[in-house]
Amino acid sequence: MYFCALPENPAKNRKYSNKVSKFLKKYGLLILSALVLAGIFYLNRYSGTARVKKGETLYKQHCSNCHGENGEGLRKLIPPLAGNPNIPAGLENMPCTIRYGKNGPIKVNNQEYNQPMAGISELEADEIKSVMDYILQTWYPETEPLSQKKISEKLGECAVTD
Ligand code: HEC
Repeated sequence: MYFCALPENPAKNRKYSNKVSKFLKKYGLLILSALVLAGIFYLNRYSGTARVKKGETLYKQHCSNCHGENGEGLRKLIPPLAGNPNIPAGLENMPCTIRYGKNGPIKVNNQEYNQPMAGISELEADEIKSVMDYILQTWYPETEPLSQKKISEKLGECAVTD
C-alpha cells in the first residue's frame, strides 16, 4: 500500500508553528474573550426565547380560552390583551391581576368591560414572568418587560393574607 505523504520539511514546519504561537500569544486572549462573550450572548438570547416559548404554552393553557388565541378578547365580555393600552400603561399591575384576578369596570379603547376575572393561583412567579414576556413580545414588542425581581416584589405587595 502506498500513501502519498507530503515530504517532511522540518524547517518550514517549525517556521509555521512559530508563527502560530506568536499569533496566539498576541491575540489568543482577545479571541478567547470574544468567544466567551459570543457564548454568553447566545445563551442569553436562547434562554429568552425558551422563556417566551414556555409563556406561549402557559398562555394557551390559562388565558386563551377567555382572552383569545390572538389576544382579541370576547365581544363585550372579555377585554382584549392585544392592542390594549392598559397593558403597557399598567404593566406593574399585571402580576397581581394574573394571580388574584380582577373585578370592577375597566375601559379598553372606549369599550367598557365589567366581568370578574378569577385569579390563576397555580402559576408560580416565574411562570407569570413567562406569560407576561410572551404577551409583551407578541403584542407590545417595544415595551420593556418587568424583571423577575419586580414581579416577585409586586406579588408580595398584593399577597392576600388570611
Ligand atoms: C375565565 C376567563 C379569564 C381567564 C382564564 C383569564 N382572564 Fe384575564 N380577564 C378576564 C376578564 C373578564 C377581565 C376583565 C376584568 C374586569 O372587568 O375587571 C380580565 C382582565 C384581564 C386584564 C386587565 C386588562 C385591562 O385592560 O386592564 C389582564 C392584564 C388579564 N386579564 C390578563 C390575563 C392573563 C395573562 C391570563 C392568563 C394567565 C388571564 N387574564 C386569564 C377574563 C379571564
